[in-house]
Amino acid sequence: MIDLHDVTVRFGTRGEPALDAVSLQVAAGEHVVVAGPLGAGASTLLRLLNGVVPHLVAATVIGRIRVAGLDPLTLPVYAMAGHVGMVLDDPGLTATQGTVAEEVAFGLESLGIPAGAMRPRVATALHDVGLDGLDDRDPATLSGGEQQRLALASVLAMEPSLLVLDEPATNLDPAGAAALLAILRRLCVGRGVTVIRADRDACGATSGATRVVRLAAGRIAADGPPDPDAALGLPAPLGPRSPTGHVVLAVSDVSLTYPGAATQALDGISLEVRAGEVLGMTGPNGSGKSTLARLATGLTQPDAGTVVVGGLDTRVRRPARERAAAAGLVFQDPRHQLLAATVREELALGLRALRTPEPEISRRTALIAERFGLGPLLDRHPLRLGRATRKVVAVAAIRAMAPQLLVLDEPTIGADDALRLLIAQEIVDAAGEGTGVLVLSHDVRLLALVADRVLVVANGRITASGSPGVLLANSLALAGAEAASAPAL
Ligand SMILES: Nc1ncnc2c1ncn2[C@@H]1O[C@H](COP(=O)(O)OP(=O)(O)OP(=O)(O)O)[C@@H](O)[C@H]1O
Ligand SMILES: [Mg+2]
Repeated sequence: MIDLHDVTVRFGTRGEPALDAVSLQVAAGEHVVVAGPLGAGASTLLRLLNGVVPHLVAATVIGRIRVAGLDPLTLPVYAMAGHVGMVLDDPGLTATQGTVAEEVAFGLESLGIPAGAMRPRVATALHDVGLDGLDDRDPATLSGGEQQRLALASVLAMEPSLLVLDEPATNLDPAGAAALLAILRRLCVGRGVTVIRADRDACGATSGATRVVRLAAGRIAADGPPDPDAALGLPAPLGPRSPTGHVVLAVSDVSLTYPGAATQALDGISLEVRAGEVLGMTGPNGSGKSTLARLATGLTQPDAGTVVVGGLDTRVRRPARERAAAAGLVFQDPRHQLLAATVREELALGLRALRTPEPEISRRTALIAERFGLGPLLDRHPLRLGRATRKVVAVAAIRAMAPQLLVLDEPTIGADDALRLLIAQEIVDAAGEGTGVLVLSHDVRLLALVADRVLVVANGRITASGSPGVLLANSLALAGAEAASAPAL
């Protein structure tokens, strides 16, 4: 199905090749995980398979590639689309249609499927990924995980013989991730579909894969069956704290219903974050985490209940400068907040809004850039960076402003182990400096590293709270059980 022979890929004139003389054969019906740290070449490898590299992302490619007997280097991307279903790691980017159902139908139209056959295929695909009932929603209003599910549905509906997925589970809750693997297993074993997917962790998540190809610096470092012992262990916390500071965030009995929605996105939520405390929050896709993040930083207002940040109700209008000093939010999709033309400028933007003197801005941005490893990227455009790096820029820019309350929505999306640890260390350092931190995340290993307490939300309500060790281990076990019993994503 896939045959790469001595393939080398270079982007621009930068020194090291992204892929370096890679040869790889994948037979029909295999389920291959491509593992390796950020920058090792997994995304490049996947993007070669339908010609996104080099047709849409300019690159120099040498070597021979055959996918389903076709040459993606000479065929246009649309001609490969009937054979290769690809979900990139940035699902928010891909939706182009007005409703969820139209988005799934769009791919089928491009394959020339007649209208009568389209409807049931759209319905089945949406059901398989757990998006029943959202047919008429505007894709732009979906939660992060719902957007990822939609991208998967669009591709599954096309029933390609090769599925190429770049980190398909990063935005999914644990039950969703486990159910996705079940679907992939069904497709491989039942229908002979070939699956190749990038998975940086490649730990636990490899279940169902028949083979793990590990990349390092653009080369294949290992290729073999998955390690049966690779289980998802929880790391020890980065350092015990006993936060006793004053309350920086007080959310009291807050509810919110989006216009036109049948159910409440938040339904009577109360919580507190103290100075020096890291509060974690986790819960299924669409449970209200990002909604709460926006409320906690005063970006939106609840229908009922109060949100008090730094002693002031968020309904009280304050100058932008005061608001920025009180609370900072890193969005789940940082494209909504990256505004500057260079990383250097992005790091300085907030400090300028806080009217920090210029020499101090230079000093602080240099320090932050160094701590986050952004030094070599200072002149790059933030939006042209990869997903995980873009997120790091957003975290660094907010951290530079040193707000009293730091709210981080899925800060480790797309991160590898090294980046997760770096972000975790920054969170713990911020708390050590007296910042109150609220982390909303599916990344149980991040929460285990940083959280003093964890809340679990479902359907806009807090359903459990406790110490991260106990709660997160339980949620993993629960996810496994749910996935085993539920056919849908
Ligand atoms: N603008 C909107 N209009 C209508 N519904 C919305 C809007 N924004 C969010 N929702 C819905 O509100 C619910 C909560 O969304 P939210 O983004 O807070 O979930 P989440 O817990 O962050 O999910 P995820 O884990 O996928 O990021 C979801 O069902 C979502 O579809
Ligand atoms: Mg969210």
